[in-house]
Amino acid sequence: MSKDLIVVQGGNPIKGSVDIAGAKNSVLKLMAASILAPGKTTIKNVPIISDVTLMGEVLDNLGAKVKFGKRQVTIDTSTIDSVETPYELVARMRASIAVLGPLIGRFGRAHVAMPGGCQIGSRKLDMHIAGLESLGVVFEVEHGFIDASIPGGLKAATVILEFPSVGATENLMMAATKAKGKTIIENAAREPEIVDLANYLIKMGAKITGAGSPTIEIVGVKELKPVSSHTTVGDRIEAGTYLVAGVLGGGPLTVKGINPQNLEMALIKLKLMGASVEAGDESITVSRKGKIKPVDIQTLPHPGFPTDLQAQFMVLSALADGRSVISENVFENRFMFADEIARMGAEIRIDGHHAIIDGVKKLSGAPVKSPDLRGGAALVLAGLVADGETVISSIKHIDRGYEYFIEKLTKIGADIKRL
Ligand code: EPZ
Repeated sequence: MSKDLIVVQGGNPIKGSVDIAGAKNSVLKLMAASILAPGKTTIKNVPIISDVTLMGEVLDNLGAKVKFGKRQVTIDTSTIDSVETPYELVARMRASIAVLGPLIGRFGRAHVAMPGGCQIGSRKLDMHIAGLESLGVVFEVEHGFIDASIPGGLKAATVILEFPSVGATENLMMAATKAKGKTIIENAAREPEIVDLANYLIKMGAKITGAGSPTIEIVGVKELKPVSSHTTVGDRIEAGTYLVAGVLGGGPLTVKGINPQNLEMALIKLKLMGASVEAGDESITVSRKGKIKPVDIQTLPHPGFPTDLQAQFMVLSALADGRSVISENVFENRFMFADEIARMGAEIRIDGHHAIIDGVKKLSGAPVKSPDLRGGAALVLAGLVADGETVISSIKHIDRGYEYFIEKLTKIGADIKRL
């Protein structure tokens, strides 16, 4: 059994172009949303990552027939005969909770295990539950399961989210497609993946306006129908990860299959850090122009700076010519990556939810451990430009969200292999 390690020799120039896959944080919800209507749905531009396989298992466990093709998945939901998602599946992927809204929307019932906490924080579900209760859902939370029912049926309501939670917005939007009347979600999440999900639901016959703005309106309908074909939006986080690699390794590096508007704030920060950034219709090209400049970053809900690019930008800051401050405002515990990159010589001080980074001239290769999906990818980025060899362990995290990570990095010049 291989030790499942990634070995990177630092120093190669990084340049060329990368085709960006469909967004992990959209496709998982599109797959879950297919539950809302009996029949056959096909989703295209599906990334080849383990989380997608896992969501297939979740749907299969419900009784759906899931067939994967080349970068696409066809789901026949007419054979679903259960509303239960076991702890074994939810524990492996928190995003399984996205079946809650669709199960309630179609069957009026759901029996889904509570996800545990995870490496980046407690990640509660209070906003999902409170919002759905406003629509008339009754919950029993016991023995580690969420049991949902709608004794009085699903009724529209106005829900004000305490925080623009991506998952809560999605579960509410999906359930509300079948609630009698007009549901309004205030302080809704505005991520591009929410817009993609709304577009998909509209193709199913849902009546949704305002997705991408803080106020989403959903007028309930009696029936929804399956979607013959929907192409998943490009993955802005995968794209941002490779753009950082391009600036670190010099570039010019182009990412294709991504809408630059979905990465606005990250591109602004790259320019402030001294990179040259050119945006096309469906591509972005970056290159480094001299020293990396320090920058201050606040992670925030979209269109603020994405928390999922925080670790990757910390690598850039670690090599900047001065002091940067990165504040993590979305998750309460998302700086474990900093401890790992410190082993490579980065000078980072954590003060609450601020990371103060004093740039150094060089990072040195070292054995490091991937703390989570994005931290793992960021450690690989650090290895690309560090002196000598970096060995990254616990790389299962990376497989969850980056397809062909080794192959794509090799193609742009990295000296990288998987043991
Ligand atoms: C989604 O997680 C993404 N995951 C995350 O990406 C991403 O970091 C996050 O949105 C923020 O953009 C998927 O889409 C599968 P939230 P989600 O609900 O929906 C708290 C990655 O690397 N909260 O917006 O779970 C929560 O604890 C992953 O691809 C509550 O307190 O994010 C967190 O601190 C990591 N109660 C904050 O809100 C709730 O009911 C944001 O969570 C819900 C959330």
